[in-house]
Amino acid sequence: MKDALLYEGKAKQVFQAKGKPGQLVLSYKNDATAFNGEKKANFEGKGRLNNEISARIFTSLQSRGVESHFIERLNETEQLVHETEIIPLEVVVRNLATGSITKRLGFREKTLFEPPLVELFYKNDDLGDPLINDDHAKLLSDITDLELNQVKEKALIVNDRLSSLFASIGIKLVDFKLEFGRKADGTIVLSDEISPDTCRLWDLETEQKLDKDVFRQGTGNLIEVYEEILRRLEGLSW
Ligand code: TMP
Ligand code: ASP
Repeated sequence: MKDALLYEGKAKQVFQAKGKPGQLVLSYKNDATAFNGEKKANFEGKGRLNNEISARIFTSLQSRGVESHFIERLNETEQLVHETEIIPLEVVVRNLATGSITKRLGFREKTLFEPPLVELFYKNDDLGDPLINDDHAKLLSDITDLELNQVKEKALIVNDRLSSLFASIGIKLVDFKLEFGRKADGTIVLSDEISPDTCRLWDLETEQKLDKDVFRQGTGNLIEVYEEILRRLEGLSW
């Protein structure tokens, strides 16, 4: 099913897919990190949960007209995707203020961003993924002006689709991070993962945090809340 290990990140390994040129196998790990890898732990079952959650979210986006690199879930911890070269930008969409933006710019917790706010970060662990502007993004990656605008528009469409998906299971999509990759033919496609590692998900009624913030802040049981997300997603008919 898989050939050489091409890359290992903090939460996933990337393999060449066996006998399938142009396709990769993503293997979701049980590791969790926060604060640029300063805080680390291993949670039995996390890889399976994020693989399944991310697969369901990409499938749902696909049925709502948003293409991604996702092809299919292969087994508990692995999924097959189209090969892309990741563009080193983290595209964050925020509906409510929390996390780094409250510290960085002084927005009060839960300030509503209407329209939603899009931010760009440079994906570079050595530099701690700093916030950048469009001009930086064009210098630091091979993205053009037109493509950058398309990426931001796509991120807002993803926000729209996912906000309604999560609302239907009683969850507020507070913010999230996307990554995009370039395919061999030069086109840019939504890549990486969409999971409770990369989204802030709050219960609509209680505001209970159902995402990686429970680990970042040490306020809850990561596996229990990821299981709750999967349980609610499983209740949806696609
Ligand atoms: P932030 O408030 O810490 O900037 O995070 C914004 C969103 O991006 C939040 O949903 C968590 C997600 N995120 C990642 O997926 N990876 C990261 O490395 C960081 C810092 C945030
Ligand atoms: N993924 C990030 C890291 O460990 C941090 C985070 O998600 O907060 O570096």
